[in-house]
Amino acid sequence: MARILIAGCGYAGSALGHILAGEGHEVWGLCRRPERLPASIRPLGADLTDPATLRSLPSDLEAVFYTTGPDGRGEEAYRAAYVTGLSNLIEALRSQGQQPRRLIFTSSTSVYPQSNGEWVDEDSPVSPEPFGRGLLLAGEHLCREGSFPGVVLRLAGIYGPGRARLIESVRRGEAACPEGPPRYTNRIHRDDCAGALRHLMALERPGGLYIGADHEPADRREVIRWLAGELGAPLPRTGPQEAGRRRAAGSKRCSNARLLASGYRFRHPTYREGYAAIIEERRD
Ligand SMILES: NC(=O)c1ccc[n+]([C@@H]2O[C@H](COP(=O)([O-])OP(=O)(O)OC[C@H]3O[C@@H](n4cnc5c(N)ncnc54)[C@H](OP(=O)(O)O)[C@@H]3O)[C@@H](O)[C@H]2O)c1
Repeated sequence: MARILIAGCGYAGSALGHILAGEGHEVWGLCRRPERLPASIRPLGADLTDPATLRSLPSDLEAVFYTTGPDGRGEEAYRAAYVTGLSNLIEALRSQGQQPRRLIFTSSTSVYPQSNGEWVDEDSPVSPEPFGRGLLLAGEHLCREGSFPGVVLRLAGIYGPGRARLIESVRRGEAACPEGPPRYTNRIHRDDCAGALRHLMALERPGGLYIGADHEPADRREVIRWLAGELGAPLPRTGPQEAGRRRAAGSKRCSNARLLASGYRFRHPTYREGYAAIIEERRD
């Protein structure tokens, strides 16, 4: 059984840690508020931006996951989460003489600037602009070119229990179907996010980069209409989206072919299985 550290142990990290601990691994979850971790994960209170708090990491770590997310949307928050924190952790591991056989970093499919419905894969062009993309790419570089064998998983939007605001907004009849060309959205259920991370840890010879998205990039309208049907909610209105959402949107289709070829099998292959499971859990 392995000794495993999950740094920045939040929504996805906790799900991952819970699975690994259930398999008998020794799992530590590092974050600033460790009291919120599930009981199966050993709490490790530390601030990744403060090297002094990283001096006594658990010894003999075999695998390290870096699943830290930013506190806000500003450049400093992104730099702290994706670059400073990771660099501090790598330095702390190195100075403690640790040699984990794998470092796995969760990046984001937001590094792809494509916005006209193009299919993208791991070889598609990325952009360092605006700053969020550039800092994610800097984190990817640190992970893959650093001291330990690194693997990057570029995640699509994570949804799952406790993170399904779209369900409520459709139920209340508030979600609008945007006008205009399709806007493709990409997602991954929390359990597949955890499952894919675990899979990458277990692979004998993983590649350095994978996209973590389910099988079906879907037009946002299609998802909203499907949810309305499942929930028996009123047919969603068609109308313009809020300006903020439009700006953040983009439209691309992320291919998970490489992850599938590596042997991962999705528990929730599309939004239908994933949202249906959440709706079912809420009924219970
Ligand atoms: N959520 C998405 O839709 C999405 C999409 C694409 C990629 N990703 C990436 O996937 C990863 C997991 O996402 P998530 O939604 O599970 O993130 P999350 O819930 O925000 O968890 C990240 C955790 O990092 C911890 N953290 C932040 N700053 C820290 C610091 N300075 N020191 C120690 N811990 C710190 C926070 O816990 P404390 O506050 O207790 O420290 C937080 O719970 C992240 O890397 C994220 O960027 C997420």
